[in-house]
Amino acid sequence: MGNTDAPHSAAAAMSDEAIHARADELLSQLTVAEKAGQLSQYFYFGFMREMPADQVNDIAAAGHPDKVEAALARGEAGSLLFVTDPAETNRLQRLTLEGNRLGIPALFGFDVIHGFRTILPVPIAMAASWDPETIERGQAVAAREARAVGIHWAFAPMVDIARDARWGRIIEGAGEDPYLGAAVAAAQVRGFQGSRLGTPERIIAGPKHFAGYGAALGGRDYDEVNLSDSELWNVYLPPFQAAVEAGAGNIMSAYMDLNGIPASANHWLFVEVLRDLWGFDGFVVSDANAVRNLLTHGFAQDLTDAAARAVNIGLDMEMAVADPAYTRLPDAVESGATTEQVLDASVRRVLEAKLRMGLFEDPYVDEDQAREVLGDPAHRAVARRAAQRSAVLLRNEGGLLPLDTSALRSIAVIGPLADSPRDTLGPWVFDFDLDETVTILRGVRDRAGEGTDVRHAPGVRVPQRVFASMFDMFDGNTAADADDFDDEAEYQRAIELVAAADVALVVVGEAQNMIGEAASRSSLELPGRQLELLKAAVGTGTPVVALVMNGRPLDLRWAAENVPAILDVWYPGTQGGAAVADLLFGDVSPAGKLPFTWPRTGGQIPMIYSHTISHEPEKQAQRYWDEQSTPLFPFGHGLGYSQFEYSALGVDRDTVTAGEAVEVTVTVTNTGAREADDVAQLYLHQRHGSASRPVRELKGFQRFTLAAGESRVLQFELGGTHLRYWNAGSRDWVNDASTFDVWVGGDSRAALTTTFRVVES
Ligand code: BGC
Repeated sequence: MGNTDAPHSAAAAMSDEAIHARADELLSQLTVAEKAGQLSQYFYFGFMREMPADQVNDIAAAGHPDKVEAALARGEAGSLLFVTDPAETNRLQRLTLEGNRLGIPALFGFDVIHGFRTILPVPIAMAASWDPETIERGQAVAAREARAVGIHWAFAPMVDIARDARWGRIIEGAGEDPYLGAAVAAAQVRGFQGSRLGTPERIIAGPKHFAGYGAALGGRDYDEVNLSDSELWNVYLPPFQAAVEAGAGNIMSAYMDLNGIPASANHWLFVEVLRDLWGFDGFVVSDANAVRNLLTHGFAQDLTDAAARAVNIGLDMEMAVADPAYTRLPDAVESGATTEQVLDASVRRVLEAKLRMGLFEDPYVDEDQAREVLGDPAHRAVARRAAQRSAVLLRNEGGLLPLDTSALRSIAVIGPLADSPRDTLGPWVFDFDLDETVTILRGVRDRAGEGTDVRHAPGVRVPQRVFASMFDMFDGNTAADADDFDDEAEYQRAIELVAAADVALVVVGEAQNMIGEAASRSSLELPGRQLELLKAAVGTGTPVVALVMNGRPLDLRWAAENVPAILDVWYPGTQGGAAVADLLFGDVSPAGKLPFTWPRTGGQIPMIYSHTISHEPEKQAQRYWDEQSTPLFPFGHGLGYSQFEYSALGVDRDTVTAGEAVEVTVTVTNTGAREADDVAQLYLHQRHGSASRPVRELKGFQRFTLAAGESRVLQFELGGTHLRYWNAGSRDWVNDASTFDVWVGGDSRAALTTTFRVVES
C-alpha cells in the first residue's frame, strides 16, 4: 500500500493560517443562499431515475437526482452522499464546479463502515480482535478504496456504546466497554485519516452518533434515551472524546431524544461538551433527516425553526433525504432566528475541510487507478488477517479444534448461511463483489484439498423478517427464502450428510439483514429451525463444530452445553471463509475476545461485567428465580489452541499520591505446544470512596504472540485518567484516596490479583 503519510498536494501542505485565510476569502464572496447550500448535504440515489413514477413518493421526489443536480447547478449543494462509482463522482463534481461561481467542490460522503470493495469483518468483530493495529490497518484499506472512487469522508466509526443486544446497531460498534470502545474509536480514526486531514489515500472520519444512541429504550432503534450523568461521562462519552483527541474531522449527531432533548439540537452536547470542553474544531453533520425530525419530535414548530435551532448549536451540515431544512436558513437569518455570523462559522468549517482534503486542487479521481486500487490483492490479505484475528473461540471441549486433517476423509458443512456470500459480508456494505466473496463452504473446500470430501446442505432456511428491512432495496441477496425449498427433504438430507461425515461444521446465526440499523429484535433465539438442526446434527454422534455468524450475542444455552466446539466468526467479510478455514485447520490459533458480556437469554438484558454491587452480593447469580443471572460467556472471553499462564503480578509502588501513576507488571507464559496469541486484560476496582464503583473495570489490554514455552513480562501504566471517574454527586471528575484491586488475565474473570493504595497528596 506504499507510504501514504506524506501530504502530496499543495493544499494538503497548506498551513492552518493559509487555510483560514482562503476560507475567509471565499466566505466573503458567498450569498446567504450559497452559504445555506454549502451546509446542505443531499442523498443522491441515481437508481431513482429508473424507478416507476408511481413508486416515487413525495419525499423521494424532492430528493430525486434531477432536483439534486439542479441544486448543484445553482451552486447550492455543498455535499452529496451515496455516490460510489468513480465516473459518477467525477461527473457530479464537474457539474458542481460548473455551477459554482467560486469553484467550490462538493464533498462526497458515504457509509464506509467496514470496507468499501474489500469487505472487512463487521465492526463488532474488529473490536473483538482487541488489536488497534489490525483495526487501524483495516480502516486504512477502506479509506484507500473509498478515496480512489472519489469519496472524501466516511460516516464512521460508530462509537456508540451498546449494552442491549436487542439493538441491531450493536454490530456497528465496539460493544459495552468505554475503555475498549475508546481504543477502538481512536484506532479507526487514525486508520481513516492517517496522521492528519489531507493525508493522501485517506478520508475524513465521522464518529457517530453523538451521543447516547446505543442506549435506546428497549433496544428499539431510534427510541428515546435516558442516561444518568454518571453513565454519560463514565461510559457513553469516552469513545467520542478519544475519537476527537485522535483528530476526527467530523462528528455526526444522533436521532433520538437524550434526556428529553433531541440530540440533534442539544446545546449541552454540541456546545458545552464537544466544542467548549473538548475543543472540537471539525464540522458536525446531522444524521439523515435529523433536522427535519425536530418537527417529528414535537420540538421545532416548522422547518425554518428546525434549521435555525440546529445551526445555532453548531450543527454545521444537514444530511437530508429530501428538501433540506437548511434551504430555509436565509429565511431564518431574515427573521432573526439565527444570524449570518452563525452561518459563517459553520460554512468556514465546511470550507476548511474541503481545503484540507485538497479538493480545490484535485477535485477528480483517475478512473483507471480506481480500478487498480479496488482490486489490490494486498487489501484482501488485510481483510483475511482481520477475520482471523477477530474470530472468538467460545468453547472447545476435548480439543476438537483444530481439525486433525490426517484423520479426516469427509466434512459436512451445514446451514443456510454456510454458502451465502451476501450474508458472509454482513450488513452496511454496498459496493461488494459477491463472486470474489469466500463463503465458509468455499474456504473449507479450498483448504481441505482433494483427499477430503466436503459436502454441503443448507438443511433449513432462515426465515424472513416479519417487517422488511429498508436495506433490502440495495441487496436482495440474503440467504433466500426460496419458494422451491423442500423443508423436510432438505432437513433430512442435511442430517444424512452429517451422519456420514467425520466431522460436521454447522453454521448458525442471523441473516445479515436481521442485524444493523432498524434491525432491533425482541429475542436472541436462533431464527427459524436452526437450533433444531443443530440438535439433530449433534444427535447423529458425529463431532460437531458450531460456527456462529452474528453481530449480537444469541441464545446459545443449549450449544454451550452440548456442542463440543463453538467458534464465533461474526460476518467475516470478503475473505471470511478463507480465514475461518485457516482457524479450523489450525494454520492460525484464534485469539479474539468478546467485546460484550454474552447473556444466557434475552430476558437478562442489559447485563454488563462492570456492574456495581449491593445487597446480598452472594446471591448475585440468583437474581432471577428461573435462570442464573450470570453470563453464558463473560466479557473478554475467548479461547485459543494453546494455554497461557499469568504470574508474578506486581506494582512498582504500594502507595502513591492522587494523580501519580503506578506501573503494573505481569509475566505471561505460553504453556501449550504451539505459537499462539492471547490478550492480557487488566481490570481495576476501587474499594471505597465518594461513590460506589464497579466490581471491575477494564483499564488496559495488550494482545501478544508467544512461541510454545516462551515467557514475557508485560507492563501497564495506571495513571490519572485510569484512576479517576465522574462523580454524579459532585458533578466532577474525582480521584479518590482508596485501596485499588488489580487483576490481570485472559478474560474479565481473571483471578491473579494485587493491590495498591492511593493517598491524599
Ligand atoms: C444512519 C447513519 C448513516 C446515515 C447515512 C442513517 O440512517 O443512522 O448512521 O450514516 O443513515 O446512510
